[in-house]
Amino acid sequence: MVKKYAPNRFPYLLLTNIGQLITLRGGVTPRRGSALKEIGLIEDAAVLCGGGKIISAGPERGLFLDPWVKKNRRRVQELDCKGGVVLPGLVDCHTHPVFAEPRLVDFEKRITGATYEQIAAAGGGIRSSVAAVRKASGKSLAEKVLDGFNGLLRHGTTTVEAKSGYGLSTEAEIKSLEAIREAARLWPGTVRSTLLAAHVVPPEFAAKPDDYVAKVCDEIIPLVARKKLADYVDVFCERGAFTLEQSEKILGAARRHGLQTRAHVGQFTPSRLNGLLAHKPASLDHMDCVAAEDIAALATGDTVAVLLPGANYFLGHREFPDARRLIDAGVPIALATDYNPGTSPTPSLPFIMSLACTHMKMSPEEALAACTVNAACALQIEKQKGSIQPGKDADLAIFDVKDYREIAYWFAWNRCVEMVVGGEKQPLTSDLQ
Ligand code: NIG
Ligand code: FE
Repeated sequence: MVKKYAPNRFPYLLLTNIGQLITLRGGVTPRRGSALKEIGLIEDAAVLCGGGKIISAGPERGLFLDPWVKKNRRRVQELDCKGGVVLPGLVDCHTHPVFAEPRLVDFEKRITGATYEQIAAAGGGIRSSVAAVRKASGKSLAEKVLDGFNGLLRHGTTTVEAKSGYGLSTEAEIKSLEAIREAARLWPGTVRSTLLAAHVVPPEFAAKPDDYVAKVCDEIIPLVARKKLADYVDVFCERGAFTLEQSEKILGAARRHGLQTRAHVGQFTPSRLNGLLAHKPASLDHMDCVAAEDIAALATGDTVAVLLPGANYFLGHREFPDARRLIDAGVPIALATDYNPGTSPTPSLPFIMSLACTHMKMSPEEALAACTVNAACALQIEKQKGSIQPGKDADLAIFDVKDYREIAYWFAWNRCVEMVVGGEKQPLTSDLQ
C-alpha cells in the first residue's frame, strides 16, 4: 500500500538538537552475525527531510553550514529534539490486529495452570476469537485495527505487517483484509498485509481439515490475489494447527497466485524447515524450536527468522527463542511484537527490545537493528525503510532519553515523544487521553 504525502506549508522538516542519531546506515542487508551490532551512531546530529524522504543526515554543525540550508531556512520547519535519541521509524514485521475482543478467559486459565495448547484443544485460543470477528461489521473491525496501529505509532512504529486470521471463512477473511486496507488508508504509516486464513482449522471443518486446506488453496487464496488484498500468505505450522505437508501446500498455492510467503513455525514443537524454505518465505516466525540441521540453510539464505518474545512472556514461558544461537551462526533475525489478543497483546517494540536484552541476551544494538533494518528486510522493503539515509522514507521516532540503550532499559515505560512519518510531524495522543 503506497502512500502519497500531500505537501504542507513547509516543504522541508529539519530535526535539530539530536543527542544521538541512530542511522542503521550502510552495510549488506539483512544484517548477520557481528554486523547486527552496527547501528551507525552520530552524536549532536540533525536530519533534513523533504518530499517525504530523508535529504541528509549527519552532524548538526555540518548541516547548518550547508549553503542550501542557509538559503532556504524560511521554507524549513524545525523540530527541536531537545538532546534526545532519534531512530528510524520502527518496523513491526509481525502483528495480528484484526480482532474484536481481548481473551480474558484464556488469560485467567493460564494463571491457574493451563497451557496455551490445552486451552486451544478445549475450544479456547484462536478459535474463541473467531465468532466475534465473523459477527463484527467491517467498519468496527477497521476501527479496532486503526486503534492497534495508533498504539504502535505511539511506541515508535511507522511500518507494520498486519495479518488476518480470526475470520477463517472466505467472507470473514476478506472482511478482515478489507479492514486492514481501510485502517491503512487512515493511518499515516506503511502497512504490508498478510492472509492468514490457515491460522487454525475452523470448527465447521474440525472433522475434515484437508477440506479446509483445499478451500484455502482453491478459493480463498485465488480470491485474495484477484482482489489484491494481501502481499503475503502465512500459515501456522504447528501441532493442533496445520501439518508441515498442509503448510507446504498452502505456501505453494500462494506462490502460484503471485503472492509472497511467510510462516509461523517452531513455536511449541520443531518442524524441519527445508520444505517451507523451498517456497522462499520472506520470514519464518517464532522459531523457538529449530533443528541443528536447519541452521546452515537459514544462515546462507535470505529468509529472516522473526523472533517473538512477547508471546513467551505473555504465555508465562521460562524459555525464550535462542537468539544467540541463531545470530552467532549467521542467521538473519528480526524482532516483532506479534500484537494479538491471545499471546501478545502489546503494541510496544521497545518492550520487545527489552525482553530481547534481558531474556535472550541480545545487546541493545542488536535489538535495535532487529526492529529496524532487519525487520524491513523481513517485509522486503529495506530499500525504503529501516534506516536513516538520503533517499529513504522520512519515518523517524524521537525518544526522550540521552542514550539509545535506555530505550530497552526503561521497560514498559514509553519514552517515545515525537513521530515523523513521510517527513511530517505526527500528532501523538498520550495513553491517558
Ligand atoms: O503468533 N501462533 C499463532 N498465532 C499467534 C497467536 C494467536 C492467538 O492466540 O490468538 C501467535 O502467537
Ligand atoms: Fe503470530
